Amino acid sequence: MIRVSAPGKLMLFGEHSVVYGGSCIVTSLDHRYVVELKEIRNEKIVIETPESRLVKILYEIKLSQVLNNTKYERPISFVQAALKSFCLQYGPIKKGLRISTNGPIASYGLGSSSAITVATIYALVNAFGINCSKREIFDLSYRAVIDVQGESSGFDVASAVFGGTIYYKNHGKIIENVQISSMPIVLAFTGNKVSTISYIQYVSALKNRQRHIINGVFDLIDQVVYQAKINIVEQNWWVVGELANICQGLLDSIGVNTMQILAPVYAARENGAWGAKLSGAGGGDCIFAIVDKPHRHQVENAIKKTGAEILAINVDADGVKLI
Ligand code: PMV
Repeated sequence: MIRVSAPGKLMLFGEHSVVYGGSCIVTSLDHRYVVELKEIRNEKIVIETPESRLVKILYEIKLSQVLNNTKYERPISFVQAALKSFCLQYGPIKKGLRISTNGPIASYGLGSSSAITVATIYALVNAFGINCSKREIFDLSYRAVIDVQGESSGFDVASAVFGGTIYYKNHGKIIENVQISSMPIVLAFTGNKVSTISYIQYVSALKNRQRHIINGVFDLIDQVVYQAKINIVEQNWWVVGELANICQGLLDSIGVNTMQILAPVYAARENGAWGAKLSGAGGGDCIFAIVDKPHRHQVENAIKKTGAEILAINVDADGVKLI
């Protein structure tokens, strides 16, 4: 049996502009997603995910059908797309397999879909003894995610593959490690999981109506990302906090903020955080604050009072690996 785990992710800077080829900084989380793969005798692939368990359906695909798959079934779509992407590259699978996962799972918006896609591809290359670079794992996984979602910058795929903290640009043409030893960060879930795709579409429509203005906003976000990269490496955390505040304002200008995000963001700032912003598409999901040690407790309590949940998750985790 092969067991693989891949990390979840936290977008730090650059959401939305990264969809149009801009840059972002993302860190991997020690909140990990697992794929187990074992050989079975029958000529089929049996797939089990949290959602398939919920609907009590055991999904089975004939080996001959993997490559012909064009319509994915929601509870297993990312595993199906990963299998297809693998077969397009390395040819048909000739052994029966059972693939069992603990994601995707609609929880905190921490990148479970991309992590499961990456872990499935990694499990397959290991099962078939294929020598494959991380770059190739990224390319195969990104293709699978696009196949299911239609639109994605790929930053979450890169985070699951490479781990650590990365600077990501131009749909993965540039992926650089950003060295950090630790990060004074508080992470919280606002209690509202949103559809990333609907927010991408919303911003895209706004960009069509206000092209020059939104392009200008995206240029500014790109400059924030560049400054954040320098200041994260130099551990100038108060500057990183200030940049988080600026980025939060720019995201407000493209309409992805909500009261649910603003309440914990302002609670953090008013209780001594250097800065705070949303993370991801907006509309809810997670926020983070950059906070020094003396203020951490106070900031966490203030965030909790707004109804948000503090997530005790570490950043800069390892990329996909066998476990
Ligand atoms: O909502 P999340 O955490 O999946 O982040 C989405 C970030 C976007 O830039 C809006 C989309 C993307 O693919 O980069």
